[in-house]
Amino acid sequence: MRIIIYTGKGGTGKTVNSCSTAVKLADNNQKTLIISSDPAHTLSDAFMIEYIGNEPTKVIDSLYALQVDPIVEINKHFNSILSYIASTFFSKGVDETLSYEIAMLPGMTQLFSLLKIEESVRYDNYDSIVLDMPASGEALRYLYFPKLAGSIGRKLTEFTGVFSGFAKMFQPFSGLTGNSTPSNVLHDEIKLMTRLESLSKLIIDPNITTLRLIANPDTFSIENAKRSLMSANLYGINVDLVIINKIMPKGSNDKYFANWAEFQNNKVEEAKYNFYPLPIKEAGLYEKELRGIEMLRENARLVFGVDDPSKIFYSGNVFEFIKEDSVLRMKLKVPFTDKDNFELERYGEHLTIKVKGPVGFIINVIPLPMVTIGMKIAKSKLVDDELNVFFEPGY
Ligand SMILES: Nc1ncnc2c1ncn2[C@@H]1O[C@H](COP(=O)(O)OP(=O)(O)OP(=O)(O)O)[C@@H](O)[C@H]1O
Ligand SMILES: [Mg+2]
Repeated sequence: MRIIIYTGKGGTGKTVNSCSTAVKLADNNQKTLIISSDPAHTLSDAFMIEYIGNEPTKVIDSLYALQVDPIVEINKHFNSILSYIASTFFSKGVDETLSYEIAMLPGMTQLFSLLKIEESVRYDNYDSIVLDMPASGEALRYLYFPKLAGSIGRKLTEFTGVFSGFAKMFQPFSGLTGNSTPSNVLHDEIKLMTRLESLSKLIIDPNITTLRLIANPDTFSIENAKRSLMSANLYGINVDLVIINKIMPKGSNDKYFANWAEFQNNKVEEAKYNFYPLPIKEAGLYEKELRGIEMLRENARLVFGVDDPSKIFYSGNVFEFIKEDSVLRMKLKVPFTDKDNFELERYGEHLTIKVKGPVGFIINVIPLPMVTIGMKIAKSKLVDDELNVFFEPGY
């Protein structure tokens, strides 16, 4: 079983590349499910199918699509949690309608698409599940959330007996009735957390789940993808591929287009350094909007060539952090081995590596994790293609 997740900045092509991947997987006779939680219902736009709902809809042979509807999911599974939270707000004087709005915590959509994956893994036997994640820097956090919630869930389970006893005792005084009793809520909550924990095991298993980054040949979306790569590494999620999408063709006689093509070409070269050692696939900007089964299929052919899209293109961390007493060692793979060839500098929460590349100097800006705040670079050491940067407390 494979789970393939696409993420990237808004509009870079997550949906169309998720769909392309799914079409090619299905063409290879793998039973595939594509899941999206985008409220804009973009799967039906991409496949050019009238309606894709909250249950798997057949797209072509072996391919099913599902558009998560968070409201349906909440009502199906977690109504008691929601009404419990809402009643808590309501009892504190918040208007009832507003209570429900507040209870819809941010990230609920992402959470429910994760639970939908877990459900699909449990009940249906798909060979591959492709997840089209919404564009949000926060989105990755929700992939990590199951692990966190799962371990809290386990602790809660140990106390269930005690808690539900208490809840029953206090019920007559709490003013809560029927479905909203704390013991009911607790029961649902534990079920939810147990499910999240089993999902978390799948997400951090590098033989099952890989995250793929979509960027365009521009600074903004590439920086965004680098931040996602750093977060994914911190969360222990394997990133196996970068797709640079919408690259303009070279060779135009028009100066305007030629300039853009040159700029983008440089960005792609830079990206090869920036994302090293991740493999990069390049996808051109088509002469019309990419959509419909035939175009998606052709796009998959151009992006993946003869490769099976469910292949794990890379395994391992690009960044690694090791705590050695008060010193923090960051290990990262770099595309050079000559220690005279690069310069290292820290600017706030970024580390820059300046290195001479084929198209002049390339500056790789690496977003640093929160843990390095309040630390400074003590030294660096290059061992073959592995750069070790040592941080120690201080400014
Ligand atoms: N290589 C391409 N050539 C031509 N059009 C493309 C290409 N890639 C994507 N598009 C078009 O760009 C638009 C955005 O693509 P898509 O919806 O896949 O991006 P997204 O990252 O999912 O966006 P969002 O962040 O809104 O979810 C769509 O109209 C799509 O058809
Ligand atoms: Mg999209």
